Parts: sequence; structure tokens; C-alpha cells
Amino acid sequence: MITLNHLPAQAFIEPATLTRVTQLVQPALHTLEQGTGAGNDFLGWQHLPSGITGDQLAHIERTAALLRTGCEFVVAVGIGGSYLGAKAVIEALSDNFAAYKPAAGARVLFAGNNISEDYLAQLMQLLAGKRFGIIVISKSGTTTEPAIAFRLLKEQLEREQGREWAAQHIVAVTDARRGALRTLADREGYVTYVIPDDVGGRFSVLTPVGLLPIAVAGFDIRALVRGAVEVETAQPEMVRTYAIMRNALYQSGKKIEILVNFDPRLHFLAEWWKQLYGESEGKDGLGIFPASVDFTTDLHSMGQWIQDGERTIFETVVSLATPHENLTIPHDEEDLDGLNYIAGKRIDEVNKMAELGTRLAHLDGGVPCRVIGVPRLDEEPLGQLIYFFEKACGLSGYMLGVNPFNQPGVEAYKKNMFALLQKPGYEELSATLRAKMEP
Ligand code: PA5
Repeated sequence: MITLNHLPAQAFIEPATLTRVTQLVQPALHTLEQGTGAGNDFLGWQHLPSGITGDQLAHIERTAALLRTGCEFVVAVGIGGSYLGAKAVIEALSDNFAAYKPAAGARVLFAGNNISEDYLAQLMQLLAGKRFGIIVISKSGTTTEPAIAFRLLKEQLEREQGREWAAQHIVAVTDARRGALRTLADREGYVTYVIPDDVGGRFSVLTPVGLLPIAVAGFDIRALVRGAVEVETAQPEMVRTYAIMRNALYQSGKKIEILVNFDPRLHFLAEWWKQLYGESEGKDGLGIFPASVDFTTDLHSMGQWIQDGERTIFETVVSLATPHENLTIPHDEEDLDGLNYIAGKRIDEVNKMAELGTRLAHLDGGVPCRVIGVPRLDEEPLGQLIYFFEKACGLSGYMLGVNPFNQPGVEAYKKNMFALLQKPGYEELSATLRAKMEP
């Protein structure tokens, strides 16, 4: 089971602050679990892991097998919560160099998470003439980024492989009833999966939104869900502790939480975590800013700031106990690089000492540091980690006093973009923006 060591951070919090914040946790937990707070129509994720049936998982696995065996590539099209969960899990479980090694099944690629013309054109060049599948994921079915990517890829697939073949290799994950994607999927006869009404995008990785692409990539979604069920049913103390400590640190002037890893495969887990906490808590002029670093890489860039910059940060290190591989540092007769003092040691031992040394240095430098221990980067611990972060996020948001399940702020850029692109209905805003931009 994953663990949390928060003690090194406690020294940075006044006892009175800790007492005051700790008193918020039970009422917040009650609000979350009884569904009595703001956003209570988006609490379905709490029982997703234990609620998924064997039949539902088997259906996802069958669709995944069809795509995995019938296609060279499968493109998962989505953005935000319809992208980051699958990306995080697939990256965490994949060989670092999987893209350059032979694959046992379809390779999963991602699109619809940006509007880069070069990205989309180069993706289409890669896919040209190849049998590829598409998993198009959008709860609303109207989000611009995935809609553009899907329009391009669908057109390419139908043109190259024929409409019938395309329809058999496009899967839509969307709302049960509403949205353009639902209408199209029903008309074309795509296989579809439903994103439950009461599950918001950033809490949806344990629905087909995340599970289908993860299964296509060849990973064990049953073990992932099992890990999540373990945390859902055990309700470990670490959920409460994580939420209490981050709120107490926030009240103590620590406005930025940095999620730290010492393994590059965790990079996208941090991206997923940043969305989860950033979109859930950053509102009403409140909220810890969630940031992330990849160590030791970023010790040679952001390390200086973390050690010595403004003291408004705290760290949460995701610490992997055991690597999958076993590699030792060789002895060298000449020892020109001076590394013989660690010859015979495993690379992981050096990495662990880098981690410990960094944590101690940062504590000395005034950076509170907590550690989440993860036994191995496998499906089950990842499932535990996902549910742990989700539950702690809902709890932490209510303790902060915000609605953790809406995201009103993301509409601002969309409105401006639509107005600047002269979308019908946005004429007035378009005129206002253009007037603002005039010299
Ligand atoms: O967490 C969220 O709700 C958002 O990040 C959405 O997932 C994101 O905006 C994509 O929305 P949709 O799935 O409707 O295309």
C-alpha cells in the first residue's frame, strides 16, 4: 500500500494553526461523503472503483483488444480530464523507450490536447496509409481542441480505409444523451461508452475515459481498479492527513505545492495531479498553486529556486521504493571520472541518496517536505495513488471553502477565442476585444 510521511513538514506549522485546520476535516469529510456541499451533483467518482462491474471491465477489454490487434496506432483524442489520466497511467507503466522498441499491439498516441498545426499535420503524416483507430473522448462533445483533431483524423481514416472500416475502429466516450459527439456516434454506429453525469472530467480516469486507452496500451485495468478499490474501502488516514497538512501549510504562507518525482515516468502523473488540484481549488481568489518538477533533472534548473528562492513553497515527493530493472555502476581501472567510490552500487541506490540528500537540503532551506511512498510503478499502486489524490482533493477543496467540482474560470479564454474567430453569437464580445487591441 502507498504511504504518507508528513512529519518533516509539521515543524513549519504553528500548533494553533494545525489545531484550527484539523477541526475542518471532519465537517468537510461529512460534506463530501453525504453530498451536502456545493458541486454535490459531481460526486459519482467516489464509488466508481467499487461500482465498476466485471462485465463493464470485460466490455472495455474486448473493445481494447479489437483496437490493439486491428490497428498499428490508436489515437486518443481529448483534453484536460479527457486526456491527462490515461496519459499519466500509460506513461508511468510504459518502458521509457517503448516508442523505439517493437510493440506487441497498437501504439497509443494522443491528440486534441493542443491546437498546434505542426503537431496535427505531423501526426497525420505519421498515420498516412496506416490502419489506425480513434478513441474520441469528450464529455460535453463540444470542446474545440478535440473537435478539430477528430474532424481531421476521422476524415483521414474514412478517406484512406473507407467509411465502414472507420466506423468499426472509432470509439466515442461521451455523455449518455447530449452533445454533437453523441449524435454523430449514434448516427455512424460507433461503439460508445458513457461518462457518467455525476463524474467531472478530472475525476474520470477510472471510467472508460481512462480505462479504454490504458487497456489498448496493454495494461491491466483490473489491477488499476483493484488498487483504487483498496483505498476507497480502507479510507486510510493518509487521505485526511494529506488534506490537513496542505491546508495548514497554506494557512502558514506556503502557497505553492510542488509534486516531486525522481523517475521520468512520473512526469505525467504530476500533470494529471496539477489539473486535479488546480482546477478543483484555484477559484474565488484562493488555492494552492500546484507545480511539479522532475528530479534530478530539474535540480540543475529549478533546484536553485527551490533551495533559495522565496519561501512560499512546500514539496510532496512521490518516492518509488523498487525499480523494475537491476543495474549496477561498473568498476573502471583508470577511474578518471572518480566514480569508483560507488562502483558496484545499484543506480537506484544513488538515486535514493540523491532523493534523501535533496529532501534534507530543502528542509534545511525552509521547504516543508512530505513523502508519498509507492512500492513499485505497477497498476495496483497507481490505482491507489489515483484514488488517494482524488479523495484528498475533494476533501481539501471543501476544507479550503471552495466548490472543488466546478471550473468556471476555464470559460474565459474560450469566449475570447470564439469571439476572435468570429463564431456566430459572439459579435458583441468580438467588437469589445478588437476595440481593446486597437493602438
Ligand atoms: O476537468 C474537466 O472537467 C475539464 O478539464 C474537462 O475534462 C476538459 O475541459 C474537457 O472537456 P470535455 O470532456 O467536455 O471535452
